[in-house]
Amino acid sequence: MPTFFCFRPATLVLALLAGPVLAQPARPTPPTTANQLPPAAAPVVARHALVVSAHPVASKVGRDVMQQGGNAYDAAVAVQFALAVVLPVAGNIGGGGFIVYRSKDGTAGTLDFRETAPAAASRDMYLDAQGNVVPGRSTAGPLAVGTPGSVAGMEALHKKLGKLSWAKLVAPAVRLARYGVALTEKEAAGLNRTQADFTKYNPGSPPVFVRPTPWQKGDTLKQPALAATLERIQDQGRAGFYQGRTAELLLAEMKKGGGLLTQQDLTSYQPKWRDALRGTYRGYDVITMPPPSSGGVALLQILQMLEPSNLGKLGYHTPAAVALITEAERRAYADRATYLGDPDFGRVPVAQLLAKDYNKQRGTTIRSDGQATPSTQITASPGLLHYESDQTTHYDIVDAQGNAVSCTTTLNGAYGSKVVVEGAGFLLNNEMDDFSSKPGVPNAYGLVGGVANAIQPGKRMLSSMTPTILAKNGKLALVTGSPGGSTIITTVLQSILSVVDYGANAEQTAAAPRLHHQWLPDQLDVEAGALPPATVQTLKEKGFNPQPRAPWGRLDVIRILPNGQLEGGPDPRGDDAAVGY
Ligand code: DON
Repeated sequence: MPTFFCFRPATLVLALLAGPVLAQPARPTPPTTANQLPPAAAPVVARHALVVSAHPVASKVGRDVMQQGGNAYDAAVAVQFALAVVLPVAGNIGGGGFIVYRSKDGTAGTLDFRETAPAAASRDMYLDAQGNVVPGRSTAGPLAVGTPGSVAGMEALHKKLGKLSWAKLVAPAVRLARYGVALTEKEAAGLNRTQADFTKYNPGSPPVFVRPTPWQKGDTLKQPALAATLERIQDQGRAGFYQGRTAELLLAEMKKGGGLLTQQDLTSYQPKWRDALRGTYRGYDVITMPPPSSGGVALLQILQMLEPSNLGKLGYHTPAAVALITEAERRAYADRATYLGDPDFGRVPVAQLLAKDYNKQRGTTIRSDGQATPSTQITASPGLLHYESDQTTHYDIVDAQGNAVSCTTTLNGAYGSKVVVEGAGFLLNNEMDDFSSKPGVPNAYGLVGGVANAIQPGKRMLSSMTPTILAKNGKLALVTGSPGGSTIITTVLQSILSVVDYGANAEQTAAAPRLHHQWLPDQLDVEAGALPPATVQTLKEKGFNPQPRAPWGRLDVIRILPNGQLEGGPDPRGDDAAVGY
């Protein structure tokens, strides 16, 4: 095995756990006025390169790769595999995701490594004989699993844009799996919460996550079977996952529990390079993810509906601003439910949904007196060509040359299907729940859909993941993204509004309490501290339905300062960390 790091593995783990090596003393947080975001911890500032991810160890792995001559794409590969070890709740090799990238020369693109429905999947597979959705069938256990895309995606990224050897990039993950990593308090709590499900969905073969006494912060989690799987991937690339021993173990797992994946599903899985969706917002170029994610389309629609108004003047989280943003969200999510699905399986009217006139017109139905329009009165716009036929993770990377990666990757729910492949040590996704099991019946995120997102063999399930990059005057400006299911789109939206309309720094942006509306259910989710009581009262009087909601999302951002330095905003709600040099 190549020696990538110049210290012994045990030292590596200790060094990695010593905490993030923060790049620079940060500048003070600007003062707050009623018009601005609340103050937050000072952001991390790096001179050359920066990684912001959901785990300090993974951020450091990415930073080290770049310090050793790798670019942002190499770092992304190493971070993805490291997260599969240190963040089992969402980091993965058994799931999928999306990357939006922008290279130093300004060219941009996206990589879709979303899971696909197995060939044996069918439209009504989660319905009982009466045509009702069987609770739980699409959310846990082997039937919930889509064909994983992450390993093929990372290989494609590396082949096209990477510089360092593949083996070097997988090496840190192998070592972390073999020699162990100390659990954070949140991870220990997550594993403890999931003990019963791990036992239920892995009958007779409890995975390493199961143990008789509760996990504590600081306990070392070693994953020898995962280390062996990662070594096969390190040696053989995608063949080390989709063929040979790993595939045999995965298919045996399917057989045990009645799952649908076959060798043919694994062998035929292909990640896809897709053109980025591009829009503009107040002089910024917005580069984001096209279908099969709904994220980019909805984000750009909302931004277009907001652009004619001066949000800065309306004020931060004032009743008028919240009303406007909520109404724009309501309309975009209504369109999402009807029109969006996998573009390889039907016609998705992206150009029509993003036509300026279309959103201008849609925006004119927002009442100017700040009054709500109930969701029952909002439907998807008629007349467009119809489609025929709680846990994810995000990371941002910018390297010293200015290449940028925004990646959101997921198993879908926390620990995915809860199925750990026996002998191979990795968790499988429960991404099939992102399809619409039945028109109008909400999925785990309360999202409804129809024929555009119905299950079909080989089809990609609609996503909300919204990895996004902003540039201004040809220069990189912001790298942003978040987990959070249906809330991802509005969380990413708020990161853009915070920076562009309200002048927030990266940490304020990530920390600010959030709001969310997704058309159905007709309620405005309000995180504690997001709105003063008087604003909540005014919104109620205007016909909105504000509801308190526990914190959601893990927004990670990198803002590029005018002097070219990189300002990292890891979300304080998680273990997220910014590490750079
Ligand atoms: O692709 C999607 O939209 C979902 N599978 C994302 C799930 C997610 O973000 C869960 N995180 N909290």
